[in-house]
This record gives sequence, structure tokens and C-alpha cells, in this order.
Amino acid sequence: MEVIILPSPEEASKVAARLVARVVRDKPTAVLGLATGSTPLRLYRELIALHQADQLDFSKTSTFNLDEYVGLATDRPQSYAHFMQENLFNHVNIPPDQTHIPDGMAANVPGHCAEYERAIQKAGGIDLQVLGIGSDGHIGFNEPVSSLSSRTRIKTLTRRTRADNAPYFGSEDAVPHHVITMGIGTIMESRGILLMAFGEKKADAIAKTVEGPLTALVPGSALQMHVNAKVIIDEAAASKLTRTDYYKWVYDNKPDWQKF
Ligand code: GLP
Repeated sequence: MEVIILPSPEEASKVAARLVARVVRDKPTAVLGLATGSTPLRLYRELIALHQADQLDFSKTSTFNLDEYVGLATDRPQSYAHFMQENLFNHVNIPPDQTHIPDGMAANVPGHCAEYERAIQKAGGIDLQVLGIGSDGHIGFNEPVSSLSSRTRIKTLTRRTRADNAPYFGSEDAVPHHVITMGIGTIMESRGILLMAFGEKKADAIAKTVEGPLTALVPGSALQMHVNAKVIIDEAAASKLTRTDYYKWVYDNKPDWQKF
């Protein structure tokens, strides 16, 4: 894993946006894996700014989102489909038929999940998967003890994740119990990973993901097995890591050709 610690979420998001932009410029037909939640919001704002000011072109790009709540129609403000429209898709030139989000209203959930996996394969696989992380170390909605080889499927949220997401729904009771999420095995097949985390609340999950033992109890720790995973975090999210001096040393001494 490459751990990049930057002073603020703003600076971290700028670096993350440069990385995503490089993937899209190098390969205009790139397939991006996208995440929701508060963490990638600044990244999406940066990408919109790059699209508007620097002609970053998404016309040939495809996207696959990680997850969606079961039972929420796409017009519900809490749905991840709505989130993506509001925060990215309405502001860049990705053709709508090139964007994919699991359908929380699917009548046949297992069939839909298998079809989602096939669509990722048909698109050529994901070039870069953007990830946030839950306070319990979940990625996508793969809660602790998810199989490290899991594929897209239905999952039941933990009490903690429902409590974390309650502010978006007004109350904990209103948070759906079930979600559809790409599996950890699905995420691990993407050719690049960009995990972002900001704030003290994520410090424990980041320490366990980066330096802890590889365990299904901390789904993010599976990324230790990925050949190309970058973890971009602010100082607060880095505060429980033990090797911060080394991570900063590596970043500050990158050869020019590796900089972004
Ligand atoms: C939800 C999403 C995850 C996200 C996590 C953290 O569980 N399914 O993809 O990483 O929330 O959200 P936030 O970035 O708002 O802290």
C-alpha cells in the first residue's frame, strides 16, 4: 500500500483528483469505480472543476458504483443514485448509459447482482476504484466478517453503520437494513484502488486497514493484498498509524516520474 498523508481533506482531494484525471486522460475509455458518502464529495467537486476549466473529458468513460440501499427508489434523496446525479453526473459529460449503480428496487436481487458483475466484466473490468471507509473498517457496504472473496450481493447493515448513516435519513429507524454492495473480491479485481479517509473518526479504521492484521473483521485490511492500492488521508485520519514518518518520507522523495 502507498500511504499519502496530507495536511487537509482539501489538499488530499486535490491529489486524488489529479490521480483520477490521469487515469481518464491516459485511457479515455477508463472504467471508474465510484463511492458515495461525505468523503469523496471534494474529489467530485475537483473533477467537476477539471472538467469545466481543463476540458477533462468523460465522454468515453464508464462508471460502476459500489453500493445502493435496498428499497430506495432512485429519486429518493438518500439513494446513492440520487447522490451521484447531484454530486457528479449532472455536472460532467458522462453519458447516462455509461453510468451504473446497483438497483435497490430490483425485483430479483440475486439475479441483478450477478448481472452487475457481468456488466463490470463486459466493460473490461474497473481501472480505478475510489473507496471511502466506514468507522468499523467496511469498504463499500462489506461489513466486518464479510468474505474476503465476496461478490456483489445483498448485505445487512450493522447497528453502527445504521447509526453512522442516520443523519442522512433523519433517524436511525429510517435507515434501510439491507443494501446491495460489490463484494470484497469484486473490489480486489480492480486494477487500481484509491481509498480516502478524513477525520479522527476514521483513524482507528485506517490504522487497522493499513497496519493491522489481514482479517475479515476489518474488511479494508484485504487491500493489503492489492498490488496497486493508494491510501490518501489527512493528518487526523493518520493519527493512529505507527509509521507516518516513513509514509511521508516516501511521498516527499518520490522520483519525478512517479509524482502526481
Ligand atoms: C457508507 C458507504 C461507504 C462509505 C462509508 C463512509 O457506508 N457505503 O462507501 O465509505 O459510508 O461514509 P463517509 O464518507 O460519509 O464517512
